[in-house]
Amino acid sequence: MSKPLWSGRFDSAPDPAAFDFGVSFPFDRRLFEDDVTGSLAWAEALAKAGVLDATDARAIAEGLQAILDRGRQDPSWVTGDDEDVHSFVERQLVERIGDAGRRLHTGRSRNEQVSVDLRLYLRRRIPRLQEKLRTTIAVFADQAEQAGDALMPSYTHLRRAMPVLVSHFLLSHAAALRRDHARLESAREEANALTLGSGAIAGTGYDIDTTFLANRLGFSRVVLNSMDASSDRDFVATFLHAVSLSMVHLSRIAEDFILMTGEEFGFFELADSSATGSSMMPQKKNPDPLELVRGKAGRAIGHLTGFLVTMKGLPTGYNKDLQEDKEPLFDAEDTLAVSLDATASVVRNLTLHPARTGRAASGLLLATDVADYLVSRGMPFRQSHEVVGAMVRRLLAQGRDFESLSLDEWRQAHDLFGDDVKQHVTAAASVKVRKTPQSTNPDAVRSALAETRAWLASGNGG
Ligand code: ARG
Repeated sequence: MSKPLWSGRFDSAPDPAAFDFGVSFPFDRRLFEDDVTGSLAWAEALAKAGVLDATDARAIAEGLQAILDRGRQDPSWVTGDDEDVHSFVERQLVERIGDAGRRLHTGRSRNEQVSVDLRLYLRRRIPRLQEKLRTTIAVFADQAEQAGDALMPSYTHLRRAMPVLVSHFLLSHAAALRRDHARLESAREEANALTLGSGAIAGTGYDIDTTFLANRLGFSRVVLNSMDASSDRDFVATFLHAVSLSMVHLSRIAEDFILMTGEEFGFFELADSSATGSSMMPQKKNPDPLELVRGKAGRAIGHLTGFLVTMKGLPTGYNKDLQEDKEPLFDAEDTLAVSLDATASVVRNLTLHPARTGRAASGLLLATDVADYLVSRGMPFRQSHEVVGAMVRRLLAQGRDFESLSLDEWRQAHDLFGDDVKQHVTAAASVKVRKTPQSTNPDAVRSALAETRAWLASGNGG
């Protein structure tokens, strides 16, 4: 075991079992780059404060830069029996430049350092997730374009509700993913505050220019309070929440296509490349990637829940419990990244069966259109709802639907039905009469698709 940063206080070396239990280097090595970046800026602030002379400052800057280059070149080098990534970097620095390296930690605590590292990490990694979201949104836009004017039923309570354009359904998922993109952006902004200058909890006694440091590290602001800074991991919880909600959306997408590619629906065909077979039943074509995405949503939500429980009940100030922020954060990030990749790949390769979706979009789900027809002839909606309800009851008993009714039969049902009723009661007519911009009206959907494309082209959200 490497000598811990705090060994001076103790008579004996730590018990290996207890020390190993507290070690975070195996996972916080992922913060290596951020730790060095933060330290490079810290050394400059120390020099500005007159704590480091120019020679030491230069030695530290060169040493840290060499460490950064080495670690970037060969990530497997970032390893050892150090307690954490901060200890590793400091040990490497001292090994390289000697005593000057021992001056780097002046006025600084690992409490503010680990927070700054994590904030830098999220700031640089969230855009990668947003990029994957944009790719997935583009896949939905492409599929929506290809679907043209194909029709399908929409569902409430998983019962056929009203006809919609297939493209409207596809863009509904793009709309949810865009909220995820925005939510990640605000998680990134929440993380975007400098904690350095907070010391262990009370602030630092050195003349540290926090505005300079914030600018130097690209933070939009300095935290408000040093005690809060050492306790605060809200930005981690916010990130975990943004990831969880995005996973909930991916799970809904997965569930929709698991259903709609199955034999009972048959609306879409799953590409062979997106499916797996059964070791026993030769006919099976299983949607494993979608099932795994749906399953992994539970894992992401578990990370959020677990971490909230970790934070709950901690007194003000840094507590070692906070070290439990990293593994859930990294795993949540990885989980969302692979789930987005898998979802984009499966959806990209789906084939629509427009004849099947079109057939499913006609029939008794046109009942609202029939009721609206009567309203257009002056009948109050409550009454038309009743008239059409009774028609539905009779049709169901006879195993028929609206399309099979002769004009006489329409007239028998109610004398307000005129010659034109048949052309009003089709799925295509049903979507055309929707009027609002968020509706499935074909012109509205075309605009929505164009707006989605424009949003993608604008390189949104950073
Ligand atoms: N590994 C620690 C963490 O992840 C770093 C901060 C350590 N600070 C301390 N006072 N022990 O939270």
